[in-house]
Amino acid sequence: MTIDIAPITDNLNTAIIVVDQQFNITFCNFSAQRIFERSLNQLIGSSLREHFVDDIVNQERLAKALHAGEEFTENEVQLHFRDKRYVLVDFTVTGFPLDAQPHLIFEVRRIDKQKRISQENLQHAQQNAAKELIRGLAHEIKNPLGGIRGAAQLLGKTLYDVELTEYTAMIIEQADRLRNLVDRLLGPNTLPRFRVCNLHQSLEQVRTLINADLHFPVTINRDYDPSIPDMNIDPDMIQQAVINIVKNAQQALRDARVKEPVITLVTRIERQMMIHGKRCPLSAQIKIIDNGPGIPTEVRDTLFYPMVSSKQDGSGLGLSISQTLIDHHGGKIEVDSHPGHTEFTLYIPIKHEPE
Ligand SMILES: Nc1ncnc2c1ncn2[C@@H]1O[C@H](COP(=O)(O)OP(=O)(O)O)[C@@H](O)[C@H]1O
Ligand SMILES: [Mg+2]
Repeated sequence: MTIDIAPITDNLNTAIIVVDQQFNITFCNFSAQRIFERSLNQLIGSSLREHFVDDIVNQERLAKALHAGEEFTENEVQLHFRDKRYVLVDFTVTGFPLDAQPHLIFEVRRIDKQKRISQENLQHAQQNAAKELIRGLAHEIKNPLGGIRGAAQLLGKTLYDVELTEYTAMIIEQADRLRNLVDRLLGPNTLPRFRVCNLHQSLEQVRTLINADLHFPVTINRDYDPSIPDMNIDPDMIQQAVINIVKNAQQALRDARVKEPVITLVTRIERQMMIHGKRCPLSAQIKIIDNGPGIPTEVRDTLFYPMVSSKQDGSGLGLSISQTLIDHHGGKIEVDSHPGHTEFTLYIPIKHEPE
């Protein structure tokens, strides 16, 4: 008995794509259509290459697989589609004959989601470790610093020579500078003052602020979901968290001299979101999207650490502070960035007040 395999292949989570020796697609299942965001009709007969911006696989390896019937696997490959989408996948390619002609079968598994969750957990653990380290160090610096400053002050009072008091004044000034730095490293230390208010009001205030910057005008698009209920938040903290991210976007657009700089603010309701390992029934999502150059690779993995900056005069504190403020709300920040598109997403749980 033969069985019709179409319902089976169409129910696979793995995308299956078969190409002939000219790399024209001769078969693909439903999962493949979903990854390509193309219908079966559009895919069959089209060249595999025409869908991507660059060659996704080493051509030599492909030729070898095709003609020698070999198989190989590649992990964490970023597929860059012509419609500007990026999809992260693992895939296996196997060469095999079909009607006596060499063909290739691609088995493609999407991994962006798992990768994001494991990255998120790792990121959160690392940030907490870094914060603890800084907190410990900051206290070790602040205590003796207070002593140094006090001693210099006393010494200054006993000196009558103005030239010498300049030195004690310098010690005091530098001690204050260091104390300031340490305080900024420790981040905002006030507790949030929660009250029920409208999220969009905070966002509108950010927009007004950015619009007021006439040095580098940016188009700000809004796509708000008006059905987001009033939330129990500290509006100043949320505003500050968003400002830091929007400012970065604005700076990135300016520094890269983007011709038509656009920042888009999006809000949505998100259900059943996982936030730091806990399921959150209802949360508000705020997206801040810019069409700038993307986050430089060298800062990507440590983006939220304090003092990580790619700018000459950057403090590297903006994102670390945003993270702390969103943490106060039990939320999280996600980032997705590639050239031409950087997207920061904040998730803030909407808690139902006890009746
Ligand atoms: N929208 C963005 N586009 C490109 N790079 C960004 C963006 N947002 C953040 N970055 C990168 O993240 C780094 C850290 O940002 P931040 O913590 O605010 O510190 P700072 O702005 O002082 O450098 C920046 O230096 C920049 O390299
Ligand atoms: Mg910044």
